[in-house]
Amino acid sequence: MAHLDAYNRPISYLRISVTDRCNLRCVYCMPPEGVPWRPHDQILSYEEIEPVVRAAAELGVSKVRLTGGEPLVRPGIVDLVRMLAGVPGVDDLAMTTNGILLGRYAADLAAAGLQRVNVSLDTLRPERFRRITARGELSEVWAGIEAARRAGLAPIKINTVVIRGLNDDEPVDFARRTLTESWHVRFIELMPLGVMGPMDDEWHDRVVTAPVIRAQIEATLGALEPAKASVGGGPARYYRLPGAMGTVGFITPISEHFCYQCNRLRLTADGQLRLCLLSDVEIDLRTSLRQGAGVAEVKALLLEGIQGKPMQHHLSDRQRPEKRVMSEIGG
Ligand code: 5AD
Ligand code: SF4
Repeated sequence: MAHLDAYNRPISYLRISVTDRCNLRCVYCMPPEGVPWRPHDQILSYEEIEPVVRAAAELGVSKVRLTGGEPLVRPGIVDLVRMLAGVPGVDDLAMTTNGILLGRYAADLAAAGLQRVNVSLDTLRPERFRRITARGELSEVWAGIEAARRAGLAPIKINTVVIRGLNDDEPVDFARRTLTESWHVRFIELMPLGVMGPMDDEWHDRVVTAPVIRAQIEATLGALEPAKASVGGGPARYYRLPGAMGTVGFITPISEHFCYQCNRLRLTADGQLRLCLLSDVEIDLRTSLRQGAGVAEVKALLLEGIQGKPMQHHLSDRQRPEKRVMSEIGG
């Protein structure tokens, strides 16, 4: 059974950023020249990540997601998947990826015990994809999604951050795709994390809220019907176009926060337990691990974290996290 935090939320989900590096430079995530990567010795080794997952699982965490940066750029990632798939109590093991390297790795990941993938994809237009990501080819993502489907990494969820002036003319196109593809497309409201360069000060003006997106879709494609939540139990609310194979979901950290049902802890690539995506409160696991802490000691630190988890974010009071960019936390 999952442990309850101070606000009675069962903590059942651990997101692990395995690297802060990425093979793309999405405009809202990184400046074009990139960010200085953390040196390798600051990043947790796989042998250090595994006991954290064991400890979490002993405390009732049953869902684990690997994120980045881009998790597939870390050498040996398939080995980490195999290690974590063997941890008793972890019954949902997933990954969030930009999809570029999925064509190469999907089959091996599935064989190692990964169950499913979320693919971050903000545009369906090849030209625009190059502009948003600064270095990607959309065709590689299509190949990745197809490889994931063939490998049985299902259901495939597509994460789309909708940003005014960047891709806010595309939700209808994404929604139309769900008519014939069994994807779960989730539209995510932009959060002020790693929103860099020109977008930083004006992030709030760039947010496109779920009701706006929904109205766009319904005006063109007809009414969305409420649909069952997909596996994973995340904060998205799901709908379906009549007769569609897939679903359309909304993740609304800005217009309607879901902190009261937050079930997650996060482990940053450099080994800090982050208690809330949007708050800089962290507990240093890396130092303890390197001083010899085992599963029992890590469990005590995780419990401290669970008890100290903030109630909610405070973006509406203009408080925003400053310590880290998105690529170090992984969403
Ligand atoms: N706001 C909202 N979502 C973001 N993501 C990355 N940066 C932001 C941001 N500033 C998304 C990614 C990924 C998911 C983990 O978070 O697209 O799919
Ligand atoms: Fe990489 Fe994701 Fe950031 Fe894009 S949003 S640069 S894919 S970490």
